[in-house]
Amino acid sequence: MEQYVIKGGNPLVGEVEISGAKNAALAILAAAIMTDETVLIENLPDVNDINVMLEAIAGIGATVQRVDRHKVKINGGTITDFNIEYDYIKKIRASYYLLGALLGKYGRAEVALPGGCNIGSRPIDQHLKGFRALGAEVDIEHGKIVAESDHLRGTHLYFDVVSVGATINVMMAAAMADGLTIMENVAKEPHVVDVANFLNSIGANIRGAGTDVIKIRGVDSLHKSEYSIIPDQIEAGTFMFAAAVTKGDVTVLNVIPKHLDATISKLNDIGCEIEEFDDAVRVVAKGRLRSTQVKTLPYPGYPTDMQPQIGVALALAKGTSTITESIFENRFKYLDELARMGAVIKVEGNSATIEGVEKFSGARISAPDLRAGAALCIAGLATDGVTIIDDIEYIQRGYEKFEEKLRSLGGVIERTASEKEIQKFILKVG
Ligand code: UD1
Repeated sequence: MEQYVIKGGNPLVGEVEISGAKNAALAILAAAIMTDETVLIENLPDVNDINVMLEAIAGIGATVQRVDRHKVKINGGTITDFNIEYDYIKKIRASYYLLGALLGKYGRAEVALPGGCNIGSRPIDQHLKGFRALGAEVDIEHGKIVAESDHLRGTHLYFDVVSVGATINVMMAAAMADGLTIMENVAKEPHVVDVANFLNSIGANIRGAGTDVIKIRGVDSLHKSEYSIIPDQIEAGTFMFAAAVTKGDVTVLNVIPKHLDATISKLNDIGCEIEEFDDAVRVVAKGRLRSTQVKTLPYPGYPTDMQPQIGVALALAKGTSTITESIFENRFKYLDELARMGAVIKVEGNSATIEGVEKFSGARISAPDLRAGAALCIAGLATDGVTIIDDIEYIQRGYEKFEEKLRSLGGVIERTASEKEIQKFILKVG
């Protein structure tokens, strides 16, 4: 087991290059198997979740050729198996995107049913509703989703819940269905748009991604392309909050500022100065942060994946703040860890009231999930003492070179693999 050990107290200062969006990449890799020609995907983030997805794709017989850390060639023409094992689903829920991709292309897919996860129960009823509306027979058998159809047909579908996963999964299947599919009440996240753009680049006919209604005219076959994934708005937002809580001055490079609107607006509310450029955003924090109210919502609202990061900032802000988590029911676990560092927080149902404190004190804490883990690192960087964070494999699932990037901004953070290494770090930093 590895840990991050952090000696806080330095303001983070400088520029940091943001990687490709993990959540867009996961779906695009699945969609890439839908053509028998070779697809080149660029700006792939080099993180563990992506490697697992590539293994899942290779596992069903697709040809996967890693050109370099950020580029991969995929050819779905060699697929021999339509079955995604539980091992992959257990590691990354997003391997369920292969359900939509395989069903659309071959009319058959078997994917282990994902269970709940650390942030909530996460049902997939809307995915299944969409596949059924396209004419597929969908059964749950022995812990597996089995979807089959001789002939997928376009449909008019209204999602009961705004879901990123269901929007993307059903969009992939509909891309090769017969006729027109109209999907209403869809998710508008930047990665939904990126997946639609990718599918269009291989010959799909999808309009309206980024609005509430997506229209898909099915096509018979898809073809090769070269595609570059959008920057990761959540990674960018994480570094922007790192600047805020350490009273730093950080410019995130290679971003699409429009995707960061909700984050920028909240950073403004809590007293940060923001400068926007064509493909960069600078965050400057001077003095103590201010309290605010925030509620997580589907895009363009404030993202649930940025909730722990603002939670850390508000725990240090002057005054009383509230956070309402309206997407996932179990996303406040990190607040118990923050409380161990001295934060003053009361959680009731899906809302948390936070009385800001002037300082955290270093403690040994655990990362409860990916984003919360990154947020707790930021908390450690804002603390004078030493913070030790266990269970960092969550963080490595989704942040490329996290500690290197923080170090390049002046953060004192190291990855350790034993108690001895932790003690060595503590002796070194005094
Ligand atoms: C994706 C992101 C995740 C992010 C989330 C919300 C990926 C790989 N993951 O997850 O990082 O936190 O969007 O922005 O892109 N729901 C249902 N039925 C369904 C599907 C979802 O009730 O069939 C509910 C969920 O429980 C949740 C809400 O809808 O309350 C939104 O979930 P969804 O947008 O589907 O999240 P994911 O796609 O799983």
